Amino acid sequence: MSEVMMQEQIAAATAYEELFVPAVFGQWAPVVAQAAGVEPGQQVLDVACGTGILAREAARRVGQAGAVAGLDMTPGMVAVAEQLAPEIEWKQGTAGELPFAEATFDAVVSQFGLMFFPDRVQALREMRRVLVPGGRLAVAVFDGLETHAAYSDEVALFDRTISEQAGDALRVPFCLGDTVGLKQMGEDAGFTAVSVTTHQGTARFPSLRSLVEADLRGWLPVMGIVLDEAKIEAVLAEAEATMGAFVTAQGTAEFPLSVHILSGVKAE
Ligand SMILES: C[S@@+](CC[C@H](N)C(=O)[O-])C[C@H]1O[C@@H](n2cnc3c(N)ncnc32)[C@H](O)[C@@H]1O
Repeated sequence: MSEVMMQEQIAAATAYEELFVPAVFGQWAPVVAQAAGVEPGQQVLDVACGTGILAREAARRVGQAGAVAGLDMTPGMVAVAEQLAPEIEWKQGTAGELPFAEATFDAVVSQFGLMFFPDRVQALREMRRVLVPGGRLAVAVFDGLETHAAYSDEVALFDRTISEQAGDALRVPFCLGDTVGLKQMGEDAGFTAVSVTTHQGTARFPSLRSLVEADLRGWLPVMGIVLDEAKIEAVLAEAEATMGAFVTAQGTAEFPLSVHILSGVKAE
């Protein structure tokens, strides 16, 4: 990858960590770690770790006697994760071909990555392969777009003001709302004791502008769509004109989040 592309990826990953993680993703790390039963002394893998919020939560839980590894496909994400927590082992790679030996981890966790994997069952099979017998899996995904009115409006905004490709980049995260299909994926990958639980949270952005900027600066570039400043300002102005419903009296932007957690066990 060229130096310019790497710098673009690092800028996007930094924006992702600053704008998205506190507003949306951070709150799920303890829930997912808990669902996988992460505890002191364990070896844990975070797949599609992004800038590493869940891996850092797992590292706090496993303590000095344990160890955590984080893997992500995007080099810029891995670079920022490494800056934030150099003590964790970070690897660039894909979920479909995990660069770890069989039976390495007591728990495998992943949040908000499964939606993007080209072969989701293959990725889940890989997660099962690297688990020890009796090891536990917890994978979080968003519920459907119809349960997230703010994102539904933002998808329409992107379709209208940028391109259908930009709208699609924001549709994909909400493509695994069907809990029956999700559970089936876990079973098809060979897990036992498979379950899907649904959890409610709240997205809290400091302003409507930061909600939309998080996607324009911290998400679209991760999906290969880089906009110039004039375009970003035009989309933000249109968002302020059309998405006022999500702004609180204090000027923050808040809305409910609905998240499914797929859990399973590798049989002994
Ligand atoms: C929405 S982010 C979630 C990141 C992180 N888990 C968090 O909670 O902040 C999705 C991540 O999935 C990664 N990703 C997408 N496809 C992947 C694949 N096939 N293998 C590994 N990582 C992938 C992206 O690079 C991105 O960092």
